[in-house]
Amino acid sequence: MRFGWMVLVWGFVLTACSSGEEGKQSRELDSMLRSMSVPELVGQMNLVNSPSKEDEESFLNAIRRGEIGGVLNENNPERIELFQRTALNESPKGIPLIIGRDVIHGFKLIFPINLAQAASWNPDLVQAAAAHSAREAARAGINWTFSPMLDITRDPRWGRVAESFGEDPFLAAQMGVAMVKAYQGDSLYPESLLAACAKHFAAYGAVEGGRDYNTVAVPRIDLENIHFRPFREAAKHSVASFMTAFHELNGVPATANRYLIQETLKEQWGYPGFVVSDWASVHELKNHGFATSDAEAAHLAIGAGLDMEMSGSCYSGELEKLLAEGKISRNQLEASVRRILEVKMKLGLFQYDERRATIAQRPPRKGEDLARELAVQSAVLLKNKGQILPLKLESIQQLALIGPLADNRYEQLGTWIFDGDTLLTVTPKMAFTNWIGANKLLYEKALANTRSADTRGINAALEAGRHSDVMVVVVGEESILSGEAHSRAHLGLPGAQTKLIQNLAELGKPIVLVVMAGRPLVLSEVEPFVEAILYLWHPGSMGGSALVDLISGKRNPSGKLPITFPQTEGQIPIYYAHKNTGRPVDERNHVPMETIPERLFQTSLPNTNHYLDIGSLPAYPFGYGLSYTEYAYSEPHLNSDTFSRSDTVELTFILQNRGSFAGEEIVQVYFRDFVASRTRPVKELVHFERVSLQSGEEKQVKVAIPVQALGFYNEEGNYLLEPGEFYLGVGPNEASIQYQTFHVID
Ligand code: BGC
Repeated sequence: MRFGWMVLVWGFVLTACSSGEEGKQSRELDSMLRSMSVPELVGQMNLVNSPSKEDEESFLNAIRRGEIGGVLNENNPERIELFQRTALNESPKGIPLIIGRDVIHGFKLIFPINLAQAASWNPDLVQAAAAHSAREAARAGINWTFSPMLDITRDPRWGRVAESFGEDPFLAAQMGVAMVKAYQGDSLYPESLLAACAKHFAAYGAVEGGRDYNTVAVPRIDLENIHFRPFREAAKHSVASFMTAFHELNGVPATANRYLIQETLKEQWGYPGFVVSDWASVHELKNHGFATSDAEAAHLAIGAGLDMEMSGSCYSGELEKLLAEGKISRNQLEASVRRILEVKMKLGLFQYDERRATIAQRPPRKGEDLARELAVQSAVLLKNKGQILPLKLESIQQLALIGPLADNRYEQLGTWIFDGDTLLTVTPKMAFTNWIGANKLLYEKALANTRSADTRGINAALEAGRHSDVMVVVVGEESILSGEAHSRAHLGLPGAQTKLIQNLAELGKPIVLVVMAGRPLVLSEVEPFVEAILYLWHPGSMGGSALVDLISGKRNPSGKLPITFPQTEGQIPIYYAHKNTGRPVDERNHVPMETIPERLFQTSLPNTNHYLDIGSLPAYPFGYGLSYTEYAYSEPHLNSDTFSRSDTVELTFILQNRGSFAGEEIVQVYFRDFVASRTRPVKELVHFERVSLQSGEEKQVKVAIPVQALGFYNEEGNYLLEPGEFYLGVGPNEASIQYQTFHVID
């Protein structure tokens, strides 16, 4: 009887929804909300970790009482089905559960880590990959992913750099929006199957010292222009939910930060979705020294606009009491639950059987080619001395494949691979065997793992190297060395890997270094000893195949760095979009420290913004990446030298492929606003595209940039475009651009 009533009400709601009568739908939702008891309202705000088998019955009873609105960390379809049926058929209002999971860069099939995906500069491919994962996950009953992660980070020490799209807000926004589109499509249902979650709001990537969970102090102007940017774009693209973060921002923890959640996201941006806490981060308000009790924590969080608590008992244990004490209002609860129920409705969860049938009709296609393609396009060629790559198979009698990551099905997958299937992995060893045959391949692991200081295996590796024409050495860091809570202070190759490479180099044979890592590593100690460096990041399931595609010359590397690589840890943070300062550095005037005469007068050296011992340059700049061919850029031209605010600047140049390989060049367009009421970076990425060119081919490339795209936000979040002098430039990376100046007039 009870269920029959429910179906009727929701049937009405959904008809109203599909016929576009939003006002009607909204009124119906209101009356549903009014009919819900306080424990039922609080239940919708409660996201609970999936129980152990022993706790399952009491968990089901809690669902029956309407005390659970969502479940996370369950990937077993039968169990999810049981939870959903219990919620639909036995809970007071029959409201289905939202089922969340970290589907971050793959589900069963693992794509390259997010930082690597950003190195592809190919949002369409990133979107296709995420759509594949969405189908895989939806089939298991998952309907919500805690992705995309949109934290801008300029600190490779931070372990979560692996999950990020790197240092640039524009690039990260493009990638984030691609993922939102993949998960959600134009309509969450029936077109698409997963709700997305933009996380972690906001500025989590700026944790002090790159140490996870650490304090963050970022001025509002930088929040607006750097950290908010990808989140603002995700909100514009209707991302279904937002997640708060673990850190405190400018003295107020993100999970109870009213300025972030209520004032900026919900009021200023008009965001209609719901906001979930990060794992137990409401309880952690006490550790921050921001709340004395769970009750106060819940009070502060709901007051800040937090709609749902993930894995905690502050909301479930305290909200009802806070209401009874008059500290919060029923309206507050209803407002949050309304946001949550709207997402559940848009996901088609109330048409549960129909939704299941839709999912069954859309099995994931085989994704291996996609994963291989994304790994190919994500790989960055950092060095290729004497064009040693691609390797010429005919001139190789024996190839030595060496290193702790050359044949490890798990470690090449990267962080956040809860559901990853290692049986799908193709390791470098597997792919090399396929390519050159087992009889030509000498494989030595050399070190037990990347951290091992036990050098006993190096002799065998030397032996293999001695009998080979070329050595491919696969090093880096295991997945556990990056990701949440896994920050590092030293960014060199861990363990005895440097020694391994230096010893191998003594053989006098060419070394191709392949790096698998979750972050930019400092490679200065090994770079001089190797002929080539191919940076694969953690490339995912198909990393081995992608590596052979590139090394064999079947494919031409095209990836470009989405983050600056430092020469040494002491330079961090180092990023391209820095400010000019009052004493800008000119690297040409750098005096090497060793050459400074003794007793030199303090002001005799250039007093500029640099390090005496290392200057100002990174190891590899943002946007950097080589290929097997050579691209030449002509000087760009603009269609005018004066523009009004409503104009579009057209930048035209010729791109030529002067080498003997076909390839794809990632063309990058940057601008600079020379003088403004707030200082602006020395350059900012404003456009990029992949241009494919046959050997010898040239193309005219025309890029249209609306003048409106060249503005910035002030501290209050108002977008300003001030007249004055600008430049627009193009090049293969941020450090090698050619530009033209122009004026924007009122
Ligand atoms: C992480 C989130 C993640 C959540 C759920 C937290 O520890 O910070 O990114 O989505 O756990 O697994």
